Amino acid sequence: MPAQHLTPILLCLLAMWRIQTPVSSHPQYNHCQLVQKTAVCNSAELSSVPARLPENLEEIQLNYNQIKTLHDNSLLHYPSLITLTLACNGLERVQSNVFQDSKLLENLNFANNNINTGYEETSVALRKLPGLRFLDLSENKLNNEMASTLLHDLSSLEYLNLSGNLLQRLDETSFRHLHNLKELDLQRNIMFEIDSAFGSNPKLQRLNLAFNYLPCLTDFNMTQLVVLNASYNFIEWFISRQDLNEMFQLETLDLSNNRLLFFPFLPSRSKLQNLYLSHNILRFYENLVDNNTLQNSTTSVEFYNLQKHMKNVTAQLWDDNLHGDISSLDTLDLRGNQVDYFPDGFIKKMPTLSRLRMSMNCLETLNLSSEQFFGSLYELDISNNRLNQISADDKLLTTFGNLTYINLSRNDLKELPFGLFSSLQRIHSVDLSYNNIGICLPDETNINVNNITSCVQWNNIGSLRQLYLKGCDLETVPTSAFMGLSLTHLELSDNPGIDVQDSLQSLSRTLQYLGLGNTQIQDIDLSHFQSLKSLNLSKNSLFHLPPSLHDIDLKVLDIRDNRLSTIPSGQAHSLASKLQTIFLTGNMFNCCQTEWFRTFETTKTVNMIGKSDIECQDILAMTHRVQDSQMFLCLEAGESILWYILLLVPICLCLTGISIVVFLTYKSKILQKSIKKKYLKPTSY
Ligand SMILES: *[C@@H]1O[C@H](CO)[C@@H](O)[C@H](O)[C@H]1NC(C)=O
Ligand SMILES: *[C@@H]1O[C@H](CO)[C@@H](O)[C@H](O)[C@H]1NC(C)=O
Ligand SMILES: *[C@@H]1O[C@H](CO)[C@@H](O)[C@H](O)[C@H]1NC(C)=O
Ligand SMILES: *[C@@H]1O[C@H](CO)[C@@H](O)[C@H](O)[C@H]1NC(C)=O
Ligand SMILES: *[C@@H]1O[C@H](CO)[C@@H](O)[C@H](O)[C@H]1NC(C)=O
Ligand SMILES: *[C@@H]1O[C@H](CO)[C@@H](O)[C@H](O)[C@H]1NC(C)=O
Ligand SMILES: *[C@@H]1O[C@H](CO)[C@@H](O)[C@H](O)[C@H]1NC(C)=O
Ligand SMILES: *[C@@H]1O[C@H](CO)[C@@H](O)[C@H](O)[C@H]1NC(C)=O
Ligand SMILES: *[C@@H]1O[C@H](CO)[C@@H](O)[C@H](O)[C@H]1NC(C)=O
Ligand SMILES: *[C@@H]1O[C@H](CO)[C@@H](O)[C@H](O)[C@H]1NC(C)=O
Ligand SMILES: *[C@@H]1O[C@H](CO)[C@@H](O)[C@H](O)[C@H]1NC(C)=O
Repeated sequence: MPAQHLTPILLCLLAMWRIQTPVSSHPQYNHCQLVQKTAVCNSAELSSVPARLPENLEEIQLNYNQIKTLHDNSLLHYPSLITLTLACNGLERVQSNVFQDSKLLENLNFANNNINTGYEETSVALRKLPGLRFLDLSENKLNNEMASTLLHDLSSLEYLNLSGNLLQRLDETSFRHLHNLKELDLQRNIMFEIDSAFGSNPKLQRLNLAFNYLPCLTDFNMTQLVVLNASYNFIEWFISRQDLNEMFQLETLDLSNNRLLFFPFLPSRSKLQNLYLSHNILRFYENLVDNNTLQNSTTSVEFYNLQKHMKNVTAQLWDDNLHGDISSLDTLDLRGNQVDYFPDGFIKKMPTLSRLRMSMNCLETLNLSSEQFFGSLYELDISNNRLNQISADDKLLTTFGNLTYINLSRNDLKELPFGLFSSLQRIHSVDLSYNNIGICLPDETNINVNNITSCVQWNNIGSLRQLYLKGCDLETVPTSAFMGLSLTHLELSDNPGIDVQDSLQSLSRTLQYLGLGNTQIQDIDLSHFQSLKSLNLSKNSLFHLPPSLHDIDLKVLDIRDNRLSTIPSGQAHSLASKLQTIFLTGNMFNCCQTEWFRTFETTKTVNMIGKSDIECQDILAMTHRVQDSQMFLCLEAGESILWYILLLVPICLCLTGISIVVFLTYKSKILQKSIKKKYLKPTSY
């Protein structure tokens, strides 16, 4: 047996590892742990399959070893073997008879090896496995020819992983024999073309083509496919075979991170539930072109490929009605596109839509009445658009019975329909950050004729738990603003000058997170906030921590960018006993009062974020990192400033004396140099 000479280090590591893992109670054979009928021999520096393991083994794991060749006799002792994993071995050759007695083998993992080196011999070996179902050949530098040699005749295969190889194009010969294939992973190859490749794989249900170089997917006719992932390619066109009236089984289609210009031309009958189109350049066009120019503009696209010369796939480009069957959609993700309107009746075609993600698009108005959303809507994210108007008639709002999460942050809203949020029965989370919408004063009745209002009355929205009002230019918040709410999250950061103290008291029982960063707040009494777990007070010019923090069971505290000079030791101890995370950078602490630092540092349960960046100033106004306490000198507290002066004066005198001597000595040189510098400096004109 080779590889029995373990180095002392490895022995040591193994010993440690054994102490820490529960399997340590299982018996050991030749560097393998036996767990029932599995031998785990990973990372054991083996260069061949161990020979004297029990014969009835069903699984051998040999990942992270150095088995370069799998010899003919390697598996003779293990006729019951079902699973063999040999990932990350640098495996180059699999001798042709190695599997001749492994009739039960179903699962073979050769991931991350060099199968490309001896692929011909390996392919002969694979052909002797009549029951092979799972084959992982990912990361083996295989090109098209090698892959098709290796896969020749593997008709029992159900799962194949070819990710991370060097495949360039697929055609009808690529997977010709894999009649039982159900799942195929082709991620991270360099494919630029697929031409009629899956005609012989009628059972294929899951296909992953992510991270390739495909420019388009046209003539899509794989009716049996359930999941297609073609994200991270260069796809400009997705066009399904339009004349097929068959039901497509497609449920999930991921075309995110491509170059789609048009909404994909989906099958005309399908069960599509999840459509991911984020990060393309997609928009709708019908509103752009008037009918005359439309008649003269081209309506079809032609596609060329390498083998046959041309395919004439016609798509009605300018008709927004032809996006296929979207009637089963549950999630539509359109984040990061250029959509500026929804075509007529588009939303209405999705009666079961529950998640609509439109963040980072160009919507300017949204008429909830005319779009005809259905009651199934659960999440609506229209953050980061250009919305300046949302309209809705009040009857309609009650139909949003399921709407739970709404994000309208980073728009240009100045008005909202009156009662928008209070009529949503299930609303849980509202984000209105970075708009220009205030909180109504009690006597404020600025509802205009169209039932539009420039402020929101938040009180008594019983289901609301999370409210985000960052950067809304809020100043006066009426005492009654949050009455009748059971908020757990309230974010009011980036509202400089906001006055909230009184209004917050009604939330003292429920509030868990409070954001008051960059609000110029000076002091705040939180002593009754028994549920508060997380507090953000960053960027506020605070000179000391609010004393009421003693009383509450805080877990996270952000107090960055303030003017704290120290944290009194009583407060530090009390905080350290409860906190899990504290942010302290951006304060200029006093180097001579950093006992708190030691307190937090020695408390294992506290994580000081950016610990090494916390700074202090010493008596000479020099900046140090609090962490390097050995680098700066501090006199004991209590010693008067006189002592400092007495100490400093002689030092200063000495330094001055030395400087004068040095100056006099090198005077002439320095003068010369500085003159040179001044006059030889290149000028910009
Ligand atoms: C295929 O292999 C890659 C790399 O080894 C892995 O990341 C991926 O999860 C595998 N695919 C499947 C479907 O298991
Ligand atoms: C899809 O089209 C290709 C090429 O036109 C054809 O070979 C294949 O049989 C078709 N597949 C199905 C499921 O109709
Ligand atoms: C598609 O593949 C990418 C890359 O592996 C992955 O991030 C993404 O989650 C996948 N999409 C789906 C819907 O599973
Ligand atoms: C284009 O024609 C349709 C009817 O064919 C009409 O409904 C629509 O208003 C027209 N659009 C424009 C911009 O003229
Ligand atoms: C469309 O094409 C016809 C014939 O080529 C031409 O007479 C007409 O002026 C064109 N219309 C527009 C709007 O360009
Ligand atoms: C493609 O279709 C258009 C319209 O049907 C036709 O005019 C054109 O000749 C076709 N091109 C080819 C190469 O078949
Ligand atoms: C919104 O749509 C409804 C129904 O189509 C319409 O009556 C109303 O005038 C629209 N509102 C605005 C502000 O456009
Ligand atoms: C409400 O949304 C949830 C979450 O998406 C969903 O499971 C549920 O079916 C929806 N209810 C209705 C009535 O559509
Ligand atoms: C709302 O959207 C913005 C921008 O897309 C995002 O940063 C923010 O976290 C979202 N709000 C919530 C509550 O998820
Ligand atoms: C405004 O909303 C209130 C309450 O929802 C309703 O009673 C009233 O009729 C609406 N007025 C207009 C002009 O729509
Ligand atoms: C606290 O609020 C500030 C200002 O809005 C923000 O930059 C910071 O990320 C917040 N801190 C945490 C921990 O979220």
